[in-house]
Amino acid sequence: MNNNKISIIGAGKVGEALVGSFLKNGLATKDQIVVTNRRVERSDYLTKKFGVHIATNRDAATDCDILFVCVKPQVAASVLEEIKPVINQNTLVISVMAGITIQQMEQALPEKQPVVRVMPNTPLRVDKAMTVVCGGTYTKESHIELTQNYFDALGRTLVLDEKYFDAVTGLSASGPAFIYIIIEALAEGGVKAGLPRNIATELAAQACLGASSMVLETGEHPALLKDEVTTPAGCTIDGILKLEEGGLRVTLIKTVMEASIKAGKLGNK
Ligand SMILES: NC(=O)c1ccc[n+]([C@@H]2O[C@H](COP(=O)([O-])OP(=O)(O)OC[C@H]3O[C@@H](n4cnc5c(N)ncnc54)[C@H](OP(=O)(O)O)[C@@H]3O)[C@@H](O)[C@H]2O)c1
Repeated sequence: MNNNKISIIGAGKVGEALVGSFLKNGLATKDQIVVTNRRVERSDYLTKKFGVHIATNRDAATDCDILFVCVKPQVAASVLEEIKPVINQNTLVISVMAGITIQQMEQALPEKQPVVRVMPNTPLRVDKAMTVVCGGTYTKESHIELTQNYFDALGRTLVLDEKYFDAVTGLSASGPAFIYIIIEALAEGGVKAGLPRNIATELAAQACLGASSMVLETGEHPALLKDEVTTPAGCTIDGILKLEEGGLRVTLIKTVMEASIKAGKLGNK
């Protein structure tokens, strides 16, 4: 445990998951964490749930070592303008905002402010997130390591060049929503084949978890792992035929492309 004072501006779904993880994994105590929100009720809820402090954006930014910016991209400009006059030069700013570039952040903050951009996803609620990390112009290796230390506790992390962030957002940040739809649809298939819904959902979800673990843990290509399941003239190949007829692959490729294109436009509003 370090003594870093942490402020989370915009403690919504992502911010709440960060607070929960930091406390659970011993990365901070409740006294080290300050949260801000637009609505008082939201901050009150977090104080009751975690015992963390609440503050205005300015107070939260005034005296902290690490400032997580977790508001929606649409309010980024006004929030950064608000904190610019008070933020300390040594405070590490970690932005989770989709579509807001490091350059936009650095221009909106005082000169030479260290900024790290991260793109997590919501499985951080269960410590199964994927978080992609990228340092800014004034970040040191220690800032990247510190950021990874916080997000490693929430799942996996990867350091990547910022040019990949729109694609990362469309695939990794939006991805869980696409997978939930796939799980729901697989479960519907199970129900159609006669399974009770709760069992069908559990089987579908575990099949996705198992398949994901196989890809990540064996390092084998998904196509080879698929071939392993597909017995000649068996039931899987009949299922695959229907899946290909339905255009699942093309649909998913277009899905990620659309989400990535939109990610690139979020910061322009
Ligand atoms: N959700 C995801 O899957 C995901 C994944 C990766 C990255 N992100 C990024 O993470 C950020 C947060 O997403 P989210 O899903 O956590 O959104 P969210 O649940 O809507 O949280 C946003 C929070 O910002 C607060 N807020 C709004 N205006 C504010 C202001 N002027 N000052 C202080 N707080 C303010 C809101 O407070 P009130 O509730 O009181 O309005 C809310 O608690 C976004 O930039 C998003 O792009 C999200």
